[in-house]
Amino acid sequence: MTTIEQGAATGVSFALTDEQKALRDLARDFAAKEIRPKEAEYDAKMQHPVEVIAKAHELGLMNLHVPEEYGGLGLGCFDGMLVGEELYWGCAGIGTSVSANGLGSGPLIIAGTDEQKATWLAPLIDEPILCSFGLSEPGAGSDVAALKATAVREGDEYVLNGSKTFITNAGYAAWTVVFAKTDPKAGSKGMSAFIVPMDTPGVTIEKHLDKMGQRATDTSAFALQDVRVPVENRLGEEGDGFKIAMATLDFTRPGTAVGAVGVAQAAYEHAVAYAKQRVTFDVPIAMHQGINFMIADMATEIEAARLLTWQAAWMLDQGYGRKATLYSSFAKRFAADTAMKVATDAVQVFGGYGYIKEYPVEKLMRDAKLFQIYEGTSQIQRLVIAKEIFLPKD
Ligand code: CAA
Repeated sequence: MTTIEQGAATGVSFALTDEQKALRDLARDFAAKEIRPKEAEYDAKMQHPVEVIAKAHELGLMNLHVPEEYGGLGLGCFDGMLVGEELYWGCAGIGTSVSANGLGSGPLIIAGTDEQKATWLAPLIDEPILCSFGLSEPGAGSDVAALKATAVREGDEYVLNGSKTFITNAGYAAWTVVFAKTDPKAGSKGMSAFIVPMDTPGVTIEKHLDKMGQRATDTSAFALQDVRVPVENRLGEEGDGFKIAMATLDFTRPGTAVGAVGVAQAAYEHAVAYAKQRVTFDVPIAMHQGINFMIADMATEIEAARLLTWQAAWMLDQGYGRKATLYSSFAKRFAADTAMKVATDAVQVFGGYGYIKEYPVEKLMRDAKLFQIYEGTSQIQRLVIAKEIFLPKD
């Protein structure tokens, strides 16, 4: 018996099924042929990758978690790890563009009624349309309970007002789940979630933000001015918004973490290849301990990050629910920090060339930085981890 088979016999296994291997290979092939060749150009032009999104959609690499009843594949979080790592290995900006429907649709999958799911999720499968997650505001990113957008009920409608920023794909989204206060005095318990079609009068895209890295992903700011949505567009009850947002992030943070693993893996591969061919002091630089110890640490930490993401995703699929929060934040924190370190070290391995745009690791270092910021900064992940250690929830 191999170690993997022994693991399987005891209920723990790192062996992928044939279907999982096929899914990963499909994503890898797509990333190599359709994403990698375009990454530098899309990054330079800050271009929204509309054709890549259409092709990914056609191949079934988007909306992986939409349940089968609504036309989706109904895949679990773990299967998303296999696709996500490959897409982000291709390009983190394009990978985020393709994957961000997972975040936009997460609140609906978690808290939507059958009717809401049929109305809003099924079209995502039929066409390559985008949706987004409208949580962050100019004055409230880490401190979600402090957000200021409001939703006031008037008869059978809610009237929404406020500003959202740093919203992935919002500039191209058909609809966004907007989090707003229905009871501004009630802190996290006064927040509700609403599905807002982006062509509703009063929704204005104010800016496509010009970012340091992951430039092929649209990140937009938008305003809501007297935006009316029917009561049927509220997810859950009034006051459920904060918990819906948190449960969504628990599910999506391993996906972001595995994106960081993909970027780290790409940087590592470039560093290994360069270290083998670049000669100094009459030998390839791979022969110098100063370099090969860096490569050894990269390989070790990438593997550790991958395993943490797999574990968190596995726990979510096993129904650990709130108990998976801790592991989701372990994965996000560690993988994001690992990607930053590995990409920075890859630049170091390349020396002066690493700092030049002609070489791929310069972009990877810029791309890696965002993992330590979006979907909760590395500091917020530590805050969540500490809360779960000292004040665990059942
Ligand atoms: N699941 C379910 N419920 C949860 C939860 C979870 N994971 N985490 C907390 N809750 C519950 C708590 O149990 C508590 O409920 P009770 O009062 O009934 O016990 C309630 O929610 C409030 O929890 P806290 O007191 O812990 O809340 P807090 O205000 O102290 O803040 C926080 C918690 C973890 C810091 C949270 O604000 C947070 O996660 N912040 C980061 C937000 C974030 O990731 N933003 C990124 C936006 S998305 C993005 O970046 C993508 C993009 O498009 C760019």
